[in-house]
Amino acid sequence: MTNTARYAVIGNPIAHSRSPFIHHAFAEQCGISLVYERLLAPLDGFNATIQQFFAEGGKGLNVTVPFKEEAFAQCQSRLSLRARIAGAVNTLWMKDDGLHGCNTDGLGLLNDIIRLGFDPKDKRVLMIGAGGAARGCLLPLLEAGCHTVQVVNRTASRAHSLVDEFLQHCPDYQNHLRAGGLDSATSEWDIVINATSASLGAQRIALPALRFSAHSLAYDMMYGAEPTLFIQEAAQQGASQQADGLGMLVGQAAVSFEIWHGMLPRTENVLDQLRQAL
Ligand code: ATR
Repeated sequence: MTNTARYAVIGNPIAHSRSPFIHHAFAEQCGISLVYERLLAPLDGFNATIQQFFAEGGKGLNVTVPFKEEAFAQCQSRLSLRARIAGAVNTLWMKDDGLHGCNTDGLGLLNDIIRLGFDPKDKRVLMIGAGGAARGCLLPLLEAGCHTVQVVNRTASRAHSLVDEFLQHCPDYQNHLRAGGLDSATSEWDIVINATSASLGAQRIALPALRFSAHSLAYDMMYGAEPTLFIQEAAQQGASQQADGLGMLVGQAAVSFEIWHGMLPRTENVLDQLRQAL
């Protein structure tokens, strides 16, 4: 056993994860020596697996499906505001007082949108979907100064519940956050984010009134070798730029890396390499 600092991504399944590649590339860029592995936890053995990892000297874990909510529960009061609002944790580290957790998905998305040349300040943002993926991104977008974030969902009541819950944590954003059904997305949007799982099944999202502004970005949190149906339709409907979620994947990893190592790595080279490998 070497003394090299150990990190890992934990999930089930986990064999597909690109996190080891991303974190090793960041470490090389920043001149840091580390080992970053994949950790398969039994579906009923998440807590035992993370306890063992940290007891053996592990420094940090990324958490992926289906354990983000369990990771949240394990951190109790030692959660960042972003994690508390997301209700899910994707980044864990151990301190003397116990396990700490953060959620870097939303900041990863925000940083990727900025990288693409769309500063969200004063922008009108449409968030499609009201599941965990949407929930985790609201605070970073609003903190970045969006004029409006409207959450629309196939099941409108879920969008309303999501927004109501969010405003209980952060009432200051009352005038900037709205909710509705898919047909309520009636004005022009500068940034449209697909946070639904529709792209997984190549399903069309019924957005009868969707309109893009003259300088607009359509962003799908999903990614793949080919443009998703959402991205193809957004291009036809006049979005000036389209992007998929590969940049968000690298972006969330960069923010986790910063939490653990105190340095925010550049993402472009890693993103290019991942894109070529898709
Ligand atoms: P996650 O945690 O990944 O966000 P989720 O909680 O299962 O996953 O949420 C999936 C989201 O995709 C929901 O907002 C869902 O809409 P409903 O709440 O109405 O189910 C949305 N979704 C899935 N398939 C869709 C489709 N074909 N059209 C529109 N929305 C869809």
